[in-house]
Amino acid sequence: MRVVSGIQPTGNLHLGNYLGAIKQWVAMQDAMAAGDDCLFFLADLHALTVAIDPRELASNTIEMAAALVASGIDPDRAILFNQARVPAHSELTWILNGTARIGWLNRMTQFKDKAGKNRESASIGLYAYPVLMAADVLVYNASHVPVGDDQKQHLELARDIATKFNTDFGSDVFVLPEPLVSKAAPRVMSLRDGTAKMSKSDPSDASRINLTDSDDAIAQKLKKAKSDADVLPDTAAGLADRPEARNLVTIYAALAGTSVDAVLADHAGKGFGAFKPALADVAVATLGPIRERMTALLDDRAAMGAILEKGAAKARTLAAPTLRAAQDAVGLQV
Ligand code: TYM
Repeated sequence: MRVVSGIQPTGNLHLGNYLGAIKQWVAMQDAMAAGDDCLFFLADLHALTVAIDPRELASNTIEMAAALVASGIDPDRAILFNQARVPAHSELTWILNGTARIGWLNRMTQFKDKAGKNRESASIGLYAYPVLMAADVLVYNASHVPVGDDQKQHLELARDIATKFNTDFGSDVFVLPEPLVSKAAPRVMSLRDGTAKMSKSDPSDASRINLTDSDDAIAQKLKKAKSDADVLPDTAAGLADRPEARNLVTIYAALAGTSVDAVLADHAGKGFGAFKPALADVAVATLGPIRERMTALLDDRAAMGAILEKGAAKARTLAAPTLRAAQDAVGLQV
């Protein structure tokens, strides 16, 4: 098993990242058998597809790495690195640009969402981004890619690119990666709007819980989270047309490591005035210690940088044979 996944080092790690992706990363790392590899990276090249401040990018990368370690990623067992330090990602991207079709990229919903109405002035990088993401996983022959629901379409594209490449060049260079979408929290929604994804790019900080938020801020944000006036039902089916209620109960269940039905069995008949403080307690109990570990790790940023450099050296070794095989397959042997 080779597990590969990444996260963009833009802004803070939020609860959607944590429940949708990072918790799965840690679980897979902890379940790793001899001969398996887990590679987790900060997708700093992806961050270049939107406006960035160079100083912020460098410090966000270190901070995000600390957040991952604080969340349970163990750099002695998993390979933790930043994408820019493994040039094979970029080199393979260019080769795959010859295989990916414009029609396929035109279907990517994330580009449409991120570019909005102003498509003509979006960067080429924002458009071509899913090809880099395909290279990220294909270069390691990833078998499993734990992600939130919003990245599934990109991984289907990676599989299409791998299949076409293998067919066009009569080769079996690439393994088809399997997306693993969290069952507990595939899509954590905004605290202000139960129909919009919780996201780093939402202008309202109240829409998300950041892993850097104080216990007080977490409790305040959950207290003010949009909900409704009904009491909680006794089955998950009763949440069907209540997006905000469903989101808050799902967050509770994912944080507590239990099911939505189990949460409802305990809280059916209660209104949000009673449920929200209970949710805040669970959230603070999980996120408070992560924040504290992260703060301690950031006392020594150089040590975090050294962890990333060590991880990059291992990743470069693992990426080299696949890049070479892809170069050979297309005739770049000389
Ligand atoms: P990014 O940085 O937006 O998010 C990192 C991970 O968090 C998940 N996620 C969510 N899950 C549930 N609910 C949410 N509200 C939520 N918001 C984010 C994402 O699905 C993701 O798993 N393109 C990727 C980074 C990337 C990558 C890769 C991932 C680059 N190369 C290769 C996997 C494999 C991204 O922008 O994720």
